Amino acid sequence: MRIDIITVLPEMLKSPFSYSILKRAQEKGLAEIHLHNLRDYSDDKHRRVDDYSFSKGAGMVMAIQPIEKALETLKGQRNYDQIIYTTPDGAVFNQQTANRLSMLENIIILCGHYKGIDQRIRDHYITMEISIGDYVLTGGELAAAVISDSIVRLIPGVLSDETSALTDSFQDHLLSPPVYTRPAEYKGMKVPDVLLSGNDQLIDDWKHEQAVERTKRLRPDLYRKYLGE
Ligand code: ADE
Repeated sequence: MRIDIITVLPEMLKSPFSYSILKRAQEKGLAEIHLHNLRDYSDDKHRRVDDYSFSKGAGMVMAIQPIEKALETLKGQRNYDQIIYTTPDGAVFNQQTANRLSMLENIIILCGHYKGIDQRIRDHYITMEISIGDYVLTGGELAAAVISDSIVRLIPGVLSDETSALTDSFQDHLLSPPVYTRPAEYKGMKVPDVLLSGNDQLIDDWKHEQAVERTKRLRPDLYRKYLGE
């Protein structure tokens, strides 16, 4: 899978992709992440990418010209399955969307800034608008990093044990059960007996019960989905 990220702050996005699982995914050739500096596409002699809004007092807006040029340049090189714009007024991102996106070949993520991008880009180029939650960030870069991270880890072969993505929280509308490691007792705090029983069936039943109980208690909204309501 190839992810092209268009941003005014490419330096900010280097580090999230340079460690651990995301780094290895790229080294193994399972994911390619390309950062593009939007200023490189500006025809302005000062490399400006923003301008005043026609709606007075609304703040600066990312201008149409550099974005159109960046998108047309990339689209001229390959076909893209989705052109995503990160914005607080987009559809709220979740695991189902991550699953769907992880199956695509090529995507572009355009990071929003200031008061947003010229609406004509949204109308003519953007195929998906994503928010990572109901709060406002200073820009779309952190959102692009969150989205890319959640997608890349789902690509087959990226996680060492492929089943571990299938048992993540949210995959079946359930939160994950609690986990424990050695020692079995620490300063009087004990691991539940069932986990030491060696009985796989009992352990699986316990994990499921715990997942259901935690979801019901902590996320009643997800629990209703789990019940199919
Ligand atoms: N840009 C600013 N806030 C954002 C959010 N919550 N999600 C995605 N992009 C954003």
